[in-house]
Amino acid sequence: GKASTSSNGSVSQPSQAGAYDDSPVPRLTIHSFIMGVFVSMGGFIFGYDTGQISGFLGMPEFLSRFGQKHSDGTFYFSNVRSGLIVALLSIGTLMGALIAGPVADRIGRKWSICGWCIMLHIGLIVQISATQGKWYQIVVGRWIAGLGVGALSLLVPMYQGESAPRQIRGALISTYQLFITLGIFVANCINFGTEKRTNTASWRIPMGISFLWVLILGVGIIFFPESPRYDFRHGRVENASKTMARLYGVPENHRVVVEELTEIRVKHEEELLHQNQKWWEIFTAPRMAYRITLGVVLQALQQLTGANYFFYYGTIIFKATGINNSYVTQMILGGVNFGTTFLGLYVVEHFGRRRSLIFGAGWMFVCFMIFASVGHFSLDRNNPQSTPHSGTAMIVFACLFILGFASTWGPIIWTICAELYPSRYRSKAMAMSTASNWLWNFLLGFFTPFIVGDIDFRYGYIFAGCLFLAAATVYFFVIEGQGRTLEEIDTMYLLHVNPRESTKWVAPPPDQLVTTEQLVRGAS
Ligand code: GLC
Repeated sequence: GKASTSSNGSVSQPSQAGAYDDSPVPRLTIHSFIMGVFVSMGGFIFGYDTGQISGFLGMPEFLSRFGQKHSDGTFYFSNVRSGLIVALLSIGTLMGALIAGPVADRIGRKWSICGWCIMLHIGLIVQISATQGKWYQIVVGRWIAGLGVGALSLLVPMYQGESAPRQIRGALISTYQLFITLGIFVANCINFGTEKRTNTASWRIPMGISFLWVLILGVGIIFFPESPRYDFRHGRVENASKTMARLYGVPENHRVVVEELTEIRVKHEEELLHQNQKWWEIFTAPRMAYRITLGVVLQALQQLTGANYFFYYGTIIFKATGINNSYVTQMILGGVNFGTTFLGLYVVEHFGRRRSLIFGAGWMFVCFMIFASVGHFSLDRNNPQSTPHSGTAMIVFACLFILGFASTWGPIIWTICAELYPSRYRSKAMAMSTASNWLWNFLLGFFTPFIVGDIDFRYGYIFAGCLFLAAATVYFFVIEGQGRTLEEIDTMYLLHVNPRESTKWVAPPPDQLVTTEQLVRGAS
């Protein structure tokens, strides 16, 4: 292993005990703030694509350019064609997330982000340049762009998670979600603004805007450091220590830097002992099957909370309640989602992951039960105008639901998946959990119209049921990562620390994490 040369205890270790710098550690530094916010732009691109497409499908110019012609000369999208245009992005994202994991282990987090931005640009160029009738060019372009979006949805939280100081890791990764919600909201507003435009600018301008964001991210990332954990594992110990010190706002011989590097070294040396295993070791290594299943299930459950039910189909849902301008309602939902994600940045570090998620699931459960019951029992589906209070109540509970989602499950699931796995398997395991998010995103997006048509607002009870499962899953299986280093979290899983008592767990000294790990490895 490359890092082993410099890993015989010499990670800028002061010669005598007490020589550490012990000055107070700033909670937030300008460097970690800029890093966290900057790469979060990947989230904006994700959200923008999510929010944009339903708007495109409704634009007259887009329709006449890529739609099919009725015998009377008007245009329409067949289900297959619109389905392909919408779904190809999701299929791309799913594949992108899976491929990006192994690539990120070879060329690094930073250069991966840069490279996938180029891929995204290619996808956008293919779409923007589509001429009359070339609808398949849109489909192919969305697939290529999807590869990029999916890859970024893995890389951004991973890069943030591997670089952030532990006391704000949750909040920094939540910034990524904040930008997703901003992207959705901006797309909602643009849809509202360009809905009635009839020239090609109606869809080319919004597409061009994402071009700009991708350009900023792809070029800007070059000036940022590689994640310290990646650097360390690839033998660049000096770089790792420098980056960490800068991000944490302390000198390199500060206790937090030295101790965290010791933890990383200890884990890395342990890894080197088990180097020549087969590819399936990712499933057979201690506690990995458990954690992969957990990540995949949590991401599925995040989708099964039903949030995208509102983001994708809100326009249709609220039309059914008799609200006339559903574009406005959609903008309100998008605004609530964005605004209350700020609350999430606070919640995750203040109440911890477990408590926030369990409370959030309970909150959303109640909101969905009320939303569904009002829609089911008191809304007159045939003449919604006659039950105006029901329509209003439904919007209020939809907003309250989104408040709950945006401040808990939206951001925190991305956070947990970024801190669940040891460095060696992180990219591949996160690729699987991220792919699960996109798979369920796709399944729900695709099947919702059919199910809604069948059982209408009773669909909400299904989400409520999933929310109950979601709370139970967190209660029994998720270990609290608040304020812990990634290496400590790994050790807690390895030691089978009881999730319900995980907040009270006392970490062993950094250089003894390896003894515990050896114990586990030896026993398994
Ligand atoms: C989360 C979900 C995503 C959803 C978004 C809404 O990021 O993963 O599917 O669209 O939240 O804010």
